[in-house]
Amino acid sequence: MTAGRLAGKVAVVTGGASGIGAGTVRAFHAEGARVVVADVQAEAGAALAAELGEGVLFRRTDVSDEDSVRELVDAAVEHFGRLDVMFNNAAIIGAVGPIDRTRMDDADLTIAINLRGVLLGMKHAARVMKPQGSGVIISTSSPAGVMGGVGAHVYSAVKAGVIGLSNSVAAELRPFGIRANVVIPGAVVSQMTADLVAGDADDLEGAEAALDRSRYMSRPLQPADVAAGVVYLASDEAAFVTGVVLPVDAGMTGAGGPSPMAHEKYADQAGRREAGRRVGEHPSPEEE
Ligand SMILES: NC(=O)c1ccc[n+]([C@@H]2O[C@H](COP(=O)([O-])OP(=O)(O)OC[C@H]3O[C@@H](n4cnc5c(N)ncnc54)[C@H](O)[C@@H]3O)[C@@H](O)[C@H]2O)c1
Repeated sequence: MTAGRLAGKVAVVTGGASGIGAGTVRAFHAEGARVVVADVQAEAGAALAAELGEGVLFRRTDVSDEDSVRELVDAAVEHFGRLDVMFNNAAIIGAVGPIDRTRMDDADLTIAINLRGVLLGMKHAARVMKPQGSGVIISTSSPAGVMGGVGAHVYSAVKAGVIGLSNSVAAELRPFGIRANVVIPGAVVSQMTADLVAGDADDLEGAEAALDRSRYMSRPLQPADVAAGVVYLASDEAAFVTGVVLPVDAGMTGAGGPSPMAHEKYADQAGRREAGRRVGEHPSPEEE
């Protein structure tokens, strides 16, 4: 058996031809898993599978279509004998624009891919995992799923829905030895981000430069950084981790902005403030 933290495991990665999905396919493969790459992008998906070689398979899949997802899961079991990890990661930005101008056909498509797609992934993974008595389902949400003002309206709604769905399913599947968790990536250098910030999905350098200017940490977040979190959730190291949301977002959701009240300018005025008055001000250490 191959060595690695996912040795012997079989995984499906939707949206696996690009960005976070492709990064996760590489990480899963490096950790010894056999992987089915599922995506609507046939050329890129097949190229990734061919590059990684034995143990990596591409299946053209539309996650919003139940027959397609059923065939995907069946293909994983037929080729590799089981299904240990389902990573529901495919999504589109979808409907954009002011709420009063929302086009309902765009909204419906966004819901179909980003939420119905995740539901279908869970449904068909559970069909195989329940009799197996083991498995991990991981789904990708977004900072937009837990806070306003950072994403498109319908996208934000369905990304919140992914969390509700995953936690609900985690409760049902716990007795079957199946875990369900969510990952929240921050702004990552990917086609989706390039499309948004550089106006061209293939301009990854433009996306990287834009993220570098607005960075939270020492460098822009890469797909491999998110993949590292997904590998952990997929591995037996996370055996008792279920029903959680793991942000890999440089603190975007949990640590908010740049900590204004801890600014250096307050270093000499440490104390407390009450209704605009400064009280209990302490001298700086040098003055003490
Ligand atoms: N890029 C970010 O900054 C960011 C931030 C938070 C969350 N996310 C989420 O991360 C996930 C991956 O996004 P990414 O940044 O890697 O984007 P990406 O565009 O590089 O990858 C998404 C992949 O999903 C595929 N896809 C789209 N519709 C599909 C369908 N109907 N069936 C199957 N595959 C389909 C695309 O072809 C593409 O390969 C998404 O769920 C996204 O919402 C991304």
